[in-house]
Amino acid sequence: MYANSLPLHCTVAAGCGLLAHLLYFIHGEKDGKALRIIIAHLNAEVLLSAYLIRYLGISKQYLSFNTAINLSYFGALFFSIVAYRLAFHRLRHFPGPLGAKLTKAYGLWMARNVKYIDELCKLHQTYGDVVRVGPNELSIRNVETLLAVNGPGSKCTKGTFYEPLSEQGEYALAVTRDKAHHKQRRQVWEKAFNSKSLKAYEPRVKSSVDDLLSQIAAHEGKPMEVSHWALLFVFDVMGKVGFSEDWGAVKDGRPNPILHLLEALFTPLGRLGRWIWPIGFFVDTGLGNEDREAFEAWSNKLLAVRQKEGREGSIDIATFLIESFHEAPNFKAGLHNQNLLNGEGQPVMIAATDTVSNSISWVFYHVARSASLQREIYQAIKPLFTQGDEAITHISLSQIPLLDAVINEAMRLHSSATVGGSRMTPSEGLQVGDLYIPGDVNVYIPPHALHLDERYFERATEFLPERWMTAPKLIKDKRAFAPFTIGTYNCVGRQLALMELRYLLAYTVWNYEFAYAPGENGRRMEEESLDLVIMKAGKLDVVFKKRESVGL
Ligand code: HEM
Repeated sequence: MYANSLPLHCTVAAGCGLLAHLLYFIHGEKDGKALRIIIAHLNAEVLLSAYLIRYLGISKQYLSFNTAINLSYFGALFFSIVAYRLAFHRLRHFPGPLGAKLTKAYGLWMARNVKYIDELCKLHQTYGDVVRVGPNELSIRNVETLLAVNGPGSKCTKGTFYEPLSEQGEYALAVTRDKAHHKQRRQVWEKAFNSKSLKAYEPRVKSSVDDLLSQIAAHEGKPMEVSHWALLFVFDVMGKVGFSEDWGAVKDGRPNPILHLLEALFTPLGRLGRWIWPIGFFVDTGLGNEDREAFEAWSNKLLAVRQKEGREGSIDIATFLIESFHEAPNFKAGLHNQNLLNGEGQPVMIAATDTVSNSISWVFYHVARSASLQREIYQAIKPLFTQGDEAITHISLSQIPLLDAVINEAMRLHSSATVGGSRMTPSEGLQVGDLYIPGDVNVYIPPHALHLDERYFERATEFLPERWMTAPKLIKDKRAFAPFTIGTYNCVGRQLALMELRYLLAYTVWNYEFAYAPGENGRRMEEESLDLVIMKAGKLDVVFKKRESVGL
């Protein structure tokens, strides 16, 4: 008798599947709710099992009922999702691979070689400027859209990518999606990077340059792996600038374990190809979170020590974060709880290490292969360097156009922020010229794709520093150069990054001539570079030789 009711049960289950989609999944964001959704389904499964066992006992029939009901529910749910995404979704008219239209898991395929950005650029070649790269996600390779999405007055917020990246539910500057909250946080961070603060950081950057120059002296004539030393250099700078600590990584010469943790943080993000809900799931369950937790514990401890001990008379990034924490809750821009303070401490390392070390590595990749470029840089810095160390400041270095031309060109060709941050369009949508982007859609404007676009840069794939100086015609639209992105969410640490790059390049060229090590052709660096959300340059061996002509 009960056995005859299987069709009815399956019909009800399929109806539930359809309703689950139409009443729940279709509405609002679900990226940060994976665990809750899985738990709800497991609970439903327990209830279903209890109900079936009551009538059928634990029997073969129970198993077949259970399986059929589940298949009906999930079959209807996924059928509805697929039909909706292909035929009814507000992005249905946008071109893109079928897999990407159906599921964001397509990102896994795109990231199979951990080179998501290269695959994305290929998709733009195939489909044009606007590509649907996920069910609710567009990648747009167009400078007008960059301005409309990120520029002044834009109503776009950060996208769903940032949703699972909270610290115990608190969203720090780099990940908050609430505009008002972001504005408050940004006031705090801007104090940490105003000209007075940057002035205080300058000697620390210089001392890390000196440490690196000592290592170069010790390794003279022997191959030095550029991306390894760049990472150690940046790590030390952030210790000094972020927390007034000297971690001595350059002096030590070995990778600090924290750098492994940082890489472990980024690797899943890179491998998942911007598919974000699994990250939320792992964060919420605590599964596979050992490295993340170890990094957080380390970062939180740094702040806790600073909160307890202080650093009399020493300004660093932590000073401003902690100061505003202590001023809360009366101070409008204050950080109002410890989780938020901890969350703010982490980007000091996360946003500032791989980004800068990638750029340094590529600067050296290009400069090392050209003795004539080194001579030009040497001649360009000579009037400043012959005035003595005191004349050499970040401001005076920033006034040497060739330094910036080389740095800009390296950052143009090898964007650290490969696809850039995701943004969400306002609910009314966004009109950019002829293009209408529907509301509540995640949009990426990949700087790397803009930087290599012939519409914006002539001979776009070539390293031509002169485009920033004597051959401006090679830049057709400067607005497309956005390594730090633009607008409200632009990089708050931009000047510090440039300070590190300018100091390191100038002092190295002043003191050394360098070239690829015997057997090195630079291909490893190109081929082994990984898109871990932030680009991680591959390996490159360079040999340094003390410049005999210093000062001549
Ligand atoms: C070459 C080096 C760097 C590059 C290319 C770079 C690039 C970027 C980009 C593209 C963004 C926007 C991310 C988004 O759209 O969500 C960003 C944001 C940010 N960067 Fe950097 N960055 C660099 C160095 C640094 C440094 C040294 C710091 C120092 C702590 C830093 C701190 C931050 C922070 C806190 C944000 C979030 C800003 C906000 O949301 O208001 N970055 N960076």
